[in-house]
Amino acid sequence: MPTTLPTPLKLAVVIPTFNESGNVAVLVDKLHEVLGADHSWEIIFVDDDSPDGTSSLIRQLSENHPRVRCLRRIGRRGLSSACTEGMLSSSASYFAIMDADLQHDETKLPEMLRALEQEGYDMAVGTRYMEGGSVGNWQEDRIQTSQVATWMSQRLLGLRVKDPMSGFFMLRREVFEGAVYKLSGIGFKLLVDLLASSRRDLRIKEIPFHFGQRLEGESKLDTRVIWDYLMLLADKRLGRYIPIQLISFATVGSLGVLVHMLVLFLFMGIFHGAFMVGQVAAVSISMVFNFFVNNALTYRDKKLRGLSLIWGLLKFMLVCSVGGAANVGVASWIYDDMGYWLVSGLAGILVGLIWNYAATSILVWSNNTKTTKGA
Ligand code: GDD
Ligand code: MN
Repeated sequence: MPTTLPTPLKLAVVIPTFNESGNVAVLVDKLHEVLGADHSWEIIFVDDDSPDGTSSLIRQLSENHPRVRCLRRIGRRGLSSACTEGMLSSSASYFAIMDADLQHDETKLPEMLRALEQEGYDMAVGTRYMEGGSVGNWQEDRIQTSQVATWMSQRLLGLRVKDPMSGFFMLRREVFEGAVYKLSGIGFKLLVDLLASSRRDLRIKEIPFHFGQRLEGESKLDTRVIWDYLMLLADKRLGRYIPIQLISFATVGSLGVLVHMLVLFLFMGIFHGAFMVGQVAAVSISMVFNFFVNNALTYRDKKLRGLSLIWGLLKFMLVCSVGGAANVGVASWIYDDMGYWLVSGLAGILVGLIWNYAATSILVWSNNTKTTKGA
């Protein structure tokens, strides 16, 4: 193994990892096989302090493989932000992004590099949705979700590539630099984020590949990924005007209204209780709902646990009671003045929302930087 690498650095393969100890060594061998010894390339694993020890395994690998390094993030999670920070840490001219779990076909990398280096493309995207590509043995519901997500990005953000959900692609440094300040960095879909954040039209080559099967470890894709994706779309459309956390907080709040009405319906319609008691129950339950959902989604990176969770819930309920009072106060003040119930009601909701958002973000979810292992 050479101890010095050819310079200048041409390609960085950036690979996000979370609990991939069963895959990284095999992937490193495969990349050496396909990229060879003559080119100047490196592998940057970005590991979010995986509890299974992926990062120490990578460190061991790098003792024999000088092309391999690991960027270890503590108290952080997120595929997109991991890839972005991996690219920021490299001086290569081209970046490839791929998963660690061998589901992406590394033998396509030379073709991708050729497209950028010799054919003048800005980006090469590994595509499952064209001839020569496939999703492998996915369940029907995952295929449908992927198709709906693809359709949404095409309609809402005007993306034209066939597989914007792909996590396997290569791009020029200039493309990355041109988008980096605008990236939302939310969730799993970095390609959507990059495409929607790029100012100019990009020349993109789509290269089909078969999405392989994961043999070791587990997928991290869960329902939160869907939420993140919706928030990414919202941020790309509205982020210029409204902070994304406020959009998330307000969306959770709207769901909270549904919970409120459901509780009230159960209480009044089925159990025929007294309205006042039903309303108090509905307010309390929907507050608890709002707290837990915001803790899991809106403030995932500042998630409260254990004792601070209970303390946080109490503070949240207190702050939101003030918000409720402000809501009623402002609404009745405008109603007394102008008399339009719809306008008054909406103004009350807006004031309550802004208060609840601002006050809880400062008093409930402030400065809670997690450093729990692999959290
Ligand atoms: N650093 C870091 N932090 N890496 C992560 C995190 C995280 O929070 N979550 C997942 N990863 C890594 C995994 O270790 C893996 O290498 C890669 O990101 C993809 O994660 P998987 O959990 O294997 O995702 P998937 O196979 O379900 O989804 C893939 O295919 C989708 C195609 O529909 C990803 O490539 C998606 O981006 C892609 O959209
Ligand atoms: Mn995977």
